[in-house]
Amino acid sequence: MTSRRWWPALAVLVLVLVLGATAWFVQPGPPAPASAQAAGPPMGWNSWNRFGCDIDEQLIRGQADALAGSGLRDAGYSFVVVDDCWMAHERDAQGRLQADPATFPSGMKALGDHVHGLGLEFGLYSSAGAETCEGRPASRDHEEVDARTFAEWGVDFLKYDYCESENGDRPAGAPARDRYAKMSAALRATGRPIVLSVVEWGDERPWEWAHDAGGTMWRTTRDIKPDWPNITGTLDQQAGLERYARPGGWNDPDMLQVGNGLDEDETQFHMTMWCLLNAPLMAGNDLSAMDPITSGALLNRALLDVQRDFGDGQGRRLRDDGDTEVWAKGMSDGSVALALLNRGTGHTTVTTSTAEAGLPDAGSYRVLDLWNGEQPATSGPLGGDVAGHGVMALRVWPRR
Ligand code: GLA
Repeated sequence: MTSRRWWPALAVLVLVLVLGATAWFVQPGPPAPASAQAAGPPMGWNSWNRFGCDIDEQLIRGQADALAGSGLRDAGYSFVVVDDCWMAHERDAQGRLQADPATFPSGMKALGDHVHGLGLEFGLYSSAGAETCEGRPASRDHEEVDARTFAEWGVDFLKYDYCESENGDRPAGAPARDRYAKMSAALRATGRPIVLSVVEWGDERPWEWAHDAGGTMWRTTRDIKPDWPNITGTLDQQAGLERYARPGGWNDPDMLQVGNGLDEDETQFHMTMWCLLNAPLMAGNDLSAMDPITSGALLNRALLDVQRDFGDGQGRRLRDDGDTEVWAKGMSDGSVALALLNRGTGHTTVTTSTAEAGLPDAGSYRVLDLWNGEQPATSGPLGGDVAGHGVMALRVWPRR
């Protein structure tokens, strides 16, 4: 009987808690990040491909401002990731990583605050070895303290590399899986959600274990370069990995080289294939100086729709005829996204059929060219003339 006397007090307490929590959640602030916990493949910008070690806080702030101001943020590019060389050559007296005092004098917390103030998310780089690939201190045997430091600085994304020594060698000894699982546990223990990007380069088949080890994405290859043989070679290494991708666990064929010297056809090829593969899209160019081909590719909404939709799985190669190839990806609305590739140097015709593309029988099909807009409805073959080093990207819906 006596316990009944507590009910009014309990009800008031619950009410206060509910009101307090509601007020906390609706307090005004910058726009919510598009991908707080990487619902689709993570998207953003990373300093490495264009700037390497030549970075400082003005540059990163400027790139973050450009990400927010160029339409990229609103298209889903939400992470600003500072790659190698942000850290001082020595840990501080407490054994913590610290910002390089010459290039990041305001510190990483201040930089993260700037990024968050733009409605973006903040990413940093470290390595699972003793040193980063550029010979700065890295996180092996410092996982807990580094994870706590990252959380205190407001880090939302950790690119975690696999260098051990000054010359960029892989660590010897412990399997990569254990090292990534250790950092993942340390990140979890901070209580801050931090996306873990596993950058083991593919040697130990991370597609088989990186998700269980806490990774949201895992590099499948060595470093991408802004040249045609490297882009096509990287693509070749993705064939067959499609069965390992899943929402929240993505194959990562490395960051974009859009805007770093590829020509227009190669740019479209690269962007199309990364979207068809549901790859994370980390722009790697100078966002403050984009030509229309670069911004048009990064902001191609019709292609980004393909990248955001897991549908019936990551895109796969249907046909390999040497210089020409056909790749497809089933979308969740029953349409199919297609990439008709010409890896040769001259123009050629590349076609496929609706049956080969896995489309159901229909009287006719609506065809959208993802670079050039609507095509006439068809009941015949799909495809056409494709420039050398180029792609025709289509999305095809059966008409009922
Ligand atoms: C490795 C990674 C790259 C980049 C560099 C930085 O090579 O694969 O993406 O992070 O290290 O040193």
